[in-house]
Amino acid sequence: MADNGVDHSAANRQLPGARIAADARLALDGGNPVRQEPWPTYDRGAVCVHPDDEQAALRAIRSHLYFRYDCRPADETECGQFEAELCRYFDCEHALATSSGTTALALAIMAAGIEPGSLIACPGFTFAATPSAIMLAGCTPFLVDIDENLHLDVADLRSRWTPQVKAIMVVHMRGFAADMAALIRFADEMGVPVFEDAVPALGAELDGRKLGTFGLAGAFSTQSDKALNSGEGGFLLTDDSALFARATVLSGAYEGRLRRHFPNGDPPIATDLDLPLLSFRMDEIRAALLRAELDRLPVRLAAFRRNYDYVASALADIAGIHIRRPVAPGAYLGEAFIFLVPTGGAEWFARALCHEGIEARNLGSDADRNIRAFWNWRFMFRGMETSAIKELLPNATRYLQRAVDIPLSSTLSLADCDQLVAAVRKIIGALAQAPAVIDEGSARAGLR
Ligand SMILES: Cc1ncc(COP(=O)(O)O)c(C=O)c1O
Repeated sequence: MADNGVDHSAANRQLPGARIAADARLALDGGNPVRQEPWPTYDRGAVCVHPDDEQAALRAIRSHLYFRYDCRPADETECGQFEAELCRYFDCEHALATSSGTTALALAIMAAGIEPGSLIACPGFTFAATPSAIMLAGCTPFLVDIDENLHLDVADLRSRWTPQVKAIMVVHMRGFAADMAALIRFADEMGVPVFEDAVPALGAELDGRKLGTFGLAGAFSTQSDKALNSGEGGFLLTDDSALFARATVLSGAYEGRLRRHFPNGDPPIATDLDLPLLSFRMDEIRAALLRAELDRLPVRLAAFRRNYDYVASALADIAGIHIRRPVAPGAYLGEAFIFLVPTGGAEWFARALCHEGIEARNLGSDADRNIRAFWNWRFMFRGMETSAIKELLPNATRYLQRAVDIPLSSTLSLADCDQLVAAVRKIIGALAQAPAVIDEGSARAGLR
């Protein structure tokens, strides 16, 4: 393990990427691209679905029993068995399969009894679904700045703190664990619960414990670009039986169906009619598919890890970029490779990568309107100028403007990874030889 927290053992080979004889002239400037084929991503079908997974979904389709709360006992339904398997996999008390990650997040907040209208702290670098889920639960997102490794900055949270904040929603964004020890210490000091948006980090661990099991509740998605993929879907994990019972009723367990989730005793809430019914349930076809995928999850996680470590090690020596650092060794999934270009020009860099055939985005690009950049969340800042929104979180603004994000599908081969490495090295090479190129590019993009 090297001091950047990345496991280098998988990449102990002769200079990856160097084997590819790249045309020195950037594709952006008319040179030959490093790669001709499209970069593999979930929306082009680059997902791990095994024929056994397809059979499992077919089995559910052929059963004609698609509703999780039909005449069968819970332990004979796909959803019931999926939830039991999740509890074993994550070593937690309760799991609830849901219609999405967003609904799982909202259920966690509502079921914890956070009063509507409360502020809930969350990082300024996350997918727009995080603040959206907070709003769905009737609360208001309270944005917190991030550090240069794009993790929620606990010192900033402390400095902004107000008693109206009733919970902290941490996000393991792009698969990288948040600093859970520091956040839980701080939340305990303030007397508020921590929820985990573990959507991007399904299966990743921090200090030997699965992300999503540190807080009062953890939420996950099974939408197509996640480590488990059922098109749409999600689940909630918690050890808190009362929270679980309320989340289950809210998700749509009506007319006594809550009892099926408590086979060994009475549910810890008096009546399911005290809560509204939101229909955030999962169906049997998805649960069947996910059960089969869960069996093979370790293989998929190993593929993410192998590819990430391979790329990060191969580029660790490069001056001019700052590779995002995990909060602890190995505390990441590996679904995305993010680096910062501290001297500016990240927008140009991402564009140059795209021309080389590697899909990349500058997270803070003004041209691209990335949904992970907080100033694009117009639903939160009606009537405000973008420049004024950016000033709310100056560090998040600066770091996202410098960040280049490359999706790493678990289906990538080492040859694909070599092309990524070669493309980054090629662009860095051009940068070093012709700094004017990047200055021009940055200036064009209005980055300086
Ligand atoms: C950080 C984060 N939270 C929440 C979600 C929402 O998940 P879903 O699309 O299943 O609602 C996403 C989706 O990608 C996400 O990236």
